[in-house]
Amino acid sequence: MEILDLRHFSSVDLRSLLNDEIHVWSRMLSWDYSGSSDMILRYVDAKILPGYAAIDRGQIFGYAFFVYEGSKGVIGDLFVANGARLPNPQEVESRLLMHVIETLQQSPGIHRIESQLLLHQTGVVSRPFLEQGFHRHRRLFMVEPLGNIGKSPRYALDKDIQIRRWSEQDYQTAAAVITTSYRGHVDSQINDQYRSLSGSLRFLNNIVRFPGCGTFDSDSSFVAVHKGARNVIGLILCSRVRHDVGHVTQVCVLPEYRSHGIGEWLLAATADNLRERNFSILSLTVTEENTRAVELYRHLEFEVKRVFDAFVWEG
Ligand SMILES: CC(C)(COP(=O)(O)OP(=O)(O)OC[C@H]1O[C@@H](n2cnc3c(N)ncnc32)[C@H](O)[C@@H]1OP(=O)(O)O)[C@@H](O)C(=O)NCCC(=O)NCCS
Repeated sequence: MEILDLRHFSSVDLRSLLNDEIHVWSRMLSWDYSGSSDMILRYVDAKILPGYAAIDRGQIFGYAFFVYEGSKGVIGDLFVANGARLPNPQEVESRLLMHVIETLQQSPGIHRIESQLLLHQTGVVSRPFLEQGFHRHRRLFMVEPLGNIGKSPRYALDKDIQIRRWSEQDYQTAAAVITTSYRGHVDSQINDQYRSLSGSLRFLNNIVRFPGCGTFDSDSSFVAVHKGARNVIGLILCSRVRHDVGHVTQVCVLPEYRSHGIGEWLLAATADNLRERNFSILSLTVTEENTRAVELYRHLEFEVKRVFDAFVWEG
């Protein structure tokens, strides 16, 4: 087995591996990965995707890639085919990760590395990260079959608060709400975009304009507005990750408005909209330490489907 630079290969070499990966995303997360897979294959053909491939007898059976975002490297994916005749697939995963981590740590100007590998159960690929000084945060992938969620929120909404559909004009104010909501929050250790207004705008841009995390679904995305002051005080963003599955990519409420039921009303608005459009599942991810959010989701009958890790390194 050899580990080679991904840029030596083309989409023809990688397609069958990615088809396997599409099946795994579908089975484990009810996620249609074909849009992401197409994007990866286009980048591979353009020779602009940095990463590594695991090769045996001329065939790729595993790969990992990363992207540069300013002074940060983000590990985008790691996948080793299940059907490969490997005595120890985890050994291959570790080797791919070691190559990626070393490359990033040695890249001039890279001071931070982030990674969230949803397909990998917590602990399974942690060794190379922990050996290289990464911090680890457990995250939960939660799902709710859109049964009763949101049909009757527990608390009446304050009369000053209105929930309305997301609009393009909400961009700037939404970025400000995100930055304030995550000040001192564990999620801003995991994703440093939350720490500044410009970072939150980049986060929004990635979610709304790029198909990396499903396709943004403006119909099921909402903002909470204070009617008097007319400013946005909370928001929920949802993407379509399969024809009938919505995924909450962001939900937050300004600190001074919390514990008034606004978070629940936002989730209810999204769930109602998806139900009306015959979606069958709503999913989200949450950091285990974020007990306030986890509690809320459990009350709404979300269940933990997977536990995975977020890793962060700062050099
Ligand atoms: C998570 C978050 C969005 C929740 O928003 P929120 O508006 O406080 O949510 P709610 O008010 O609906 O629910 C919070 C708690 O207040 C309670 N509550 C709400 N209104 C209440 C009322 N009138 N009387 C008593 N309790 C009330 C709810 O029961 C809930 O408690 P529970 O979790 O034990 O069920 C908010 O805490 C936040 O923005 N956090 C920072 C960002 C974040 O963590 N986002 C989630 C990332 S996955």
